[in-house]
Amino acid sequence: MFKNFANVWTIVGVAQDLKRVAPLAMRVAGERVVLFRDDAGKACALIDQCPHRGVALSLGRVEYGVIECPFHGWRFDGAGRNCHVPWNPDAKRENLAATSLPCREAGGLLWLYTGFDPTEEPEPSQTLTAQDRVALCAQSVTWKAHWTRVMENMLDSPHLPFVHRSTIGRDLAKHVGDGRLEMVFESRTYGGRICASVDGSPRAGNMDYRFPNVMELFIDPPGKTFRLMVACIPEDEQTTRLWLLTVRSFARAPLFDFAFRWMNRRIAREDQAIVESSLPAEVPPPAEEASVRTDAPTLAFRKIYRERLLGSSASAPRRRECFAP
Ligand code: FES
Ligand SMILES: [Fe+2]
Repeated sequence: MFKNFANVWTIVGVAQDLKRVAPLAMRVAGERVVLFRDDAGKACALIDQCPHRGVALSLGRVEYGVIECPFHGWRFDGAGRNCHVPWNPDAKRENLAATSLPCREAGGLLWLYTGFDPTEEPEPSQTLTAQDRVALCAQSVTWKAHWTRVMENMLDSPHLPFVHRSTIGRDLAKHVGDGRLEMVFESRTYGGRICASVDGSPRAGNMDYRFPNVMELFIDPPGKTFRLMVACIPEDEQTTRLWLLTVRSFARAPLFDFAFRWMNRRIAREDQAIVESSLPAEVPPPAEEASVRTDAPTLAFRKIYRERLLGSSASAPRRRECFAP
């Protein structure tokens, strides 16, 4: 399960989107997952497949913190425990559980663990946990691309004056030609920091790569906070869901969310067709593509991907008995 993306915490949504009355269905690294809130309001996740006949639990309803399968009405709590099997009061419900996954709320976001025994808790960046974080606006879009190509795109600055020549690449476009761009990737415990300079002058706007799949761009105006974050969640080998997040300490009224969302969508659309056209779909070993000095951050990401994610998988604990007629 969760092939090539196992045993990591990933952002999967925004906490306020998960209501008590409705399940939230999603795909993560090839697995169907359903999120809902238990009777205490805590975010919970199950593999979205009823242990009875495999239908999507997310098509069912949530009542009093328990999700009911839409097919024969079996009910499961947030830990996957079977609470009810209609018509079968003698059923051994302890053997008829759904498969639960670790799920948390942190920094205003929903986090899912792509495995079963996390040794650490999710670590949202300081941007998300800071007291002065006042406005988080979020939206998601879907691209037909492998998540590694999407992640690389987010860490790649040399494309800005070409793909985004009329938006965020306008300033860098002035230096294209004989200018020398330096891209430095400094390893950090959370992933890495990317700093850029042009002809020896450092550029404003450092960028963080947060393992496994988040880019955070710091574009703080003087005395203010303004960050763009993108989480690249693999849905399957051809599809990536991007959560585009803006965190700001100015223009706080929700009314302004519209403008930030519009801008984020516009920039993402500029990238989309380019990234979706990449071949091969998944990033290959570095030697199989031509690279130059300014590819240092994307090559650093590739190394981390190959060392920590490629080849990973998780196995669900088996705890089910079959009824033998
Ligand atoms: S398939 Fe879920 S209860 Fe039968
Ligand atoms: Fe881009």
